[in-house]
Amino acid sequence: MNKRAPILGIETSCDETAAAVLAWDGTILAEAVHSQLDDHARFGGVVPEVAARAHLSRLPGIARGVMAQAGLGFGDLGGVAATSGPGLIGGLIVGASYGKGLAMAHGLPFVAVNHLEAHALTVLLTDPGTRFPYLLLLVSGGHCQCVAVEGLGRYRRMGTTLDDAVGEAFDKSAKLLGLPWPGGPHLERLARAGDARAVPLPRPMLGRPGCDFSFSGLKTAVARAVQKGAAAADIAASFQAAVADVLADRARHALHAMPEATALVVAGGVAANAAVREALAREALLAGVPLAAPPPRLCGDNAVMVAWAGILRLRAGLSDALEHAPRPRWPLDEMAG
Ligand code: KG4
Ligand code: ZN
Repeated sequence: MNKRAPILGIETSCDETAAAVLAWDGTILAEAVHSQLDDHARFGGVVPEVAARAHLSRLPGIARGVMAQAGLGFGDLGGVAATSGPGLIGGLIVGASYGKGLAMAHGLPFVAVNHLEAHALTVLLTDPGTRFPYLLLLVSGGHCQCVAVEGLGRYRRMGTTLDDAVGEAFDKSAKLLGLPWPGGPHLERLARAGDARAVPLPRPMLGRPGCDFSFSGLKTAVARAVQKGAAAADIAASFQAAVADVLADRARHALHAMPEATALVVAGGVAANAAVREALAREALLAGVPLAAPPPRLCGDNAVMVAWAGILRLRAGLSDALEHAPRPRWPLDEMAG
């Protein structure tokens, strides 16, 4: 086994089955993401057992596919990194077990990757100018938090959501507007035709000390606006503007509490939203730091970020035993221990 050989990354924590091969220097040699949208759409959300079974049947083909695309055999790898938490336990077990099997068969080191850490470190691959420490705003369907990223494995959670994650708020509001699931991207498209000032919506937590979030009140207000018969595009635009205002306000507080931050980094599926990015870019400018965000395809769940987190850990001499148990709950600030 060549220590600096390419790394295979595997992601199966939610409803994306993904694999990627990255060279030791981070060059992406091959990547594939299969979204299970069709498997879950009729349920209006991710069904854990359906997800686990779909990962089980698709992962081997997807992994062999990226290896072929990279022109490599499994024996040419330098390690295998698989998301091992947090997430849906069935999918985590499928991905981690598959990765461990490959590692065992080919005598490779195995890295149990924390999915949140993978989101947090993606920017070091996509914006090589970014340096520790930076402020991370992680905004996805399952997570909504402000994290001080001080170094590899050194994360301090500064704030989190008191109820729904922001992606969840997008998805629930989109559902109220009759849009297909997951609604975030559909709501953004609809908002383009609407007036962001047409429907007055609350800005939960705005101006409050700290960096916590809350979105359930906003969702309730959207339900009320739908009942009152406001135009769907106006509701969508007003909702998006309210979310962008709240995220900007929370980022402002977090940047204030972390004066050593060299950048504001946004990651997670909602980071693909242009209005959110614009609002955060304004905050970053005011704070005098750059806004860094991975390209949209690497903001959502993918295996490039998993392979990259694996590479950074292997470079630091870190790997995990094959006994490592996947963790449905795995807060970032427990990474050091
Ligand atoms: O990071 P991600 O792919 O999966 C996890 O939750 O970990 O994030 C998915 C979430 C969904 O809630 C989806 O609706 C939201 O990100 N999302 C968006 C956009 N694209 C994806 N929300 C708003 N605007 C978008 N363009
Ligand atoms: Zn994610």
